[in-house]
Formats: sequence, C-alpha cells, structure tokens
Amino acid sequence: MAIERTLSIIKPNAVAKNVIGQILSRFETADLRIVAARMLHMSREQASAFYAVHQGKPFFDELVEFMSSGPVLVTVLEGEDAVAKNREIMGATNPANAAPGTIRADFADSLTENAVHGSDSSETAAVEIAFFFPEGVCPRTR
Ligand code: TYD
Repeated sequence: MAIERTLSIIKPNAVAKNVIGQILSRFETADLRIVAARMLHMSREQASAFYAVHQGKPFFDELVEFMSSGPVLVTVLEGEDAVAKNREIMGATNPANAAPGTIRADFADSLTENAVHGSDSSETAAVEIAFFFPEGVCPRTR
C-alpha cells in the first residue's frame, strides 16, 4: 500500500470542546503523521467554497453556518492508505451510526456538528490540500 496524504479538519464543535490534542493523538496512534497544520476561522464564503459539492442540498446552509461558527484546525495527514485509514478512525458521518471508539462516536454532537472532516478519495484530498495550503506542503517530512 502506497504512502498517501489526506486532509483533516477538526471542526468548530471539537475545537470548542478543547479536544484537539486527543484527536491528533488518535491519528498518531494509527501511524498517521501530521505533515502540515493551520488554524483558522473560516468565513461563510470560504466554507461555501470548500463544501461547494454540497451546494443546493437541504443541509448546505446549516453546514456553512456551522463550519464558519468558530476556529478549526486543518491538518494534512500522511501514512499508508491515509484516506481510508482516516475515514475509519473518524467513523460514520452520522454519529448515531459511528462505531464505538471512533472520533465521531466520542466527540460529535449531531450529524452536522460531527467533529471532523476527512477527504473521501486521494483525488479529493489533493484538491482539498491545495484549497487550504496553496503554497504547498513540505514534500519530505522525515
Ligand atoms: P458528507 O460529505 O456526506 O460526509 P463526510 O463528512 O462523512 O464525508 O457531508 C459533509 C458534511 O455535511 C458532513 O460531515 C455533515 C454534514 N451533513 C449534514 O449536516 N446533514 C446531512 O444530511 C449530511 C449527509 C451531511
């Protein structure tokens, strides 16, 4: 399995709960390395652009409102099969369906306020990484 990179966002509800460290620690425990990090408070425009694929869906406005409601920590995670591994650690989108011990099972507050984002494919990851890190990410980290 090749070394991949994926984009993770620790969402405003998890930042507000002060569990950034606990979430990052789960990535490290799963052998995912944090190779870039940026904390920011997204504007509505930024959140709309990031989630453009969901424009027109019934939950879009609520999602944009939530994602721009407070600071987030955006990271790039690197490791074997990083996209799928991160999705597994995150748990299902709806925390009601998230397996015990996953980030969403432990830290989500609702379907919208579900604690973390993770890219859903390596193609999406490349686009999402460029969205938050237009200056590029260090190619070698060890
Ligand atoms: P989606 O890309 O389907 O899920 P994931 O984040 O697991 O890749 O949806 C993006 C976000 O939109 C999701 O994390 C939470 C929010 N959302 C809702 O608020 N309501 C919904 O019905 C769905 C499907 C998603």
